[in-house]
Amino acid sequence: MFGTVATRGLRFAAIVCGAAALAMPARAQSQAPPNVHLGVASCSGGNCHGAMERPKGSAVPGNEYIIWSKSDKHRQAYAVLLEPRSERMAQALGLGRAERAPLCLNCHADYVAPDRRGNLFQLSDGVGCEACHGGASGWLGVHISGATHQQNIAAGLYPTDRPLARAEKCMSCHVGDATHYVDHRIYGAGHPPLASSSTPIPRTSRRISSSIRPMSRARGG
Ligand code: HEC
Ligand code: HEC
Ligand code: HEC
Repeated sequence: MFGTVATRGLRFAAIVCGAAALAMPARAQSQAPPNVHLGVASCSGGNCHGAMERPKGSAVPGNEYIIWSKSDKHRQAYAVLLEPRSERMAQALGLGRAERAPLCLNCHADYVAPDRRGNLFQLSDGVGCEACHGGASGWLGVHISGATHQQNIAAGLYPTDRPLARAEKCMSCHVGDATHYVDHRIYGAGHPPLASSSTPIPRTSRRISSSIRPMSRARGG
């Protein structure tokens, strides 16, 4: 794989992206514990994933940030918490403000604990890249050095290409799991049904419980 045109292209992108990475907080790069989420801004460079055209020789289109920011609802997931309907829901549940409620943020943002947020990380980015691809602190260096996908995964990139892992990731928010759930009270407060026609998830498999339990903030990437 090394030495192919694609790899050379990636190496070129790596040098440019690497410059962006160097501008990143030292904390996020060096002493940071693994699995720190560096923030969407650390992926969105013009030669990384915010490219208007496929970077020369790149294995991926490079426009993932543009697609996410313009046409992916995950980008809006935090913003909807600021809407009056969310405030009404949060009020009915006695949660205070929706955009500060762990219960809502857990699915509507990349809600990792504060000590796992890099300096460019913003909760207001909603469901950002690392909510699905995993906190980048452990793998960004390998990733921008022209590594293969397998090497990236070995360094901690979430394996979204594996069907089971992907389903588990999507369903954690779209169906619910031990730390993310929508229960009768939340539906009663007006939350829309989780399984929509665009997410192929059987309604019967939704997690239903009868009371709200404390949310864990330590969601894995
Ligand atoms: C288990 C994860 C989960 C939790 C917890 C959760 N949501 Fe959601 N929420 C979703 C998903 C997934 C959707 C999108 C449903 C769909 O369209 O398939 C959604 C949709 C919404 C929408 C509609 C958005 C739109 O584009 O129309 C609002 C508003 C909303 N949620 C507010 C809240 C508020 C307020 C809370 C906290 C009280 C909350 N949610 C808690 C997962 C969750
Ligand atoms: C809601 C989850 C989710 C979010 C958010 C998300 N991705 Fe992805 N991404 C995926 C999945 C699933 C795939 C498909 C994996 C595969 O087929 O190998 C993917 C694929 C990719 C690929 C490979 C594309 C290709 O054509 O081979 C890149 C690069 C990527 N994502 C970057 C990003 C970046 C950058 C962001 C943020 C701006 C982002 N993703 C946000 C889930 C997500
Ligand atoms: C961290 C939680 C989270 C994860 C992980 C996640 N989603 Fe979402 N997703 C949401 C929320 C919240 C919304 C609603 C955003 C809004 O409407 O503003 C949403 C919206 C969507 C929508 C739009 C639904 C509509 O009604 O238009 C689709 C499709 C979707 N997600 C698919 C996926 C897939 C596929 C994956 C896995 C690759 C995934 N999601 C992973 C939280 C998540």
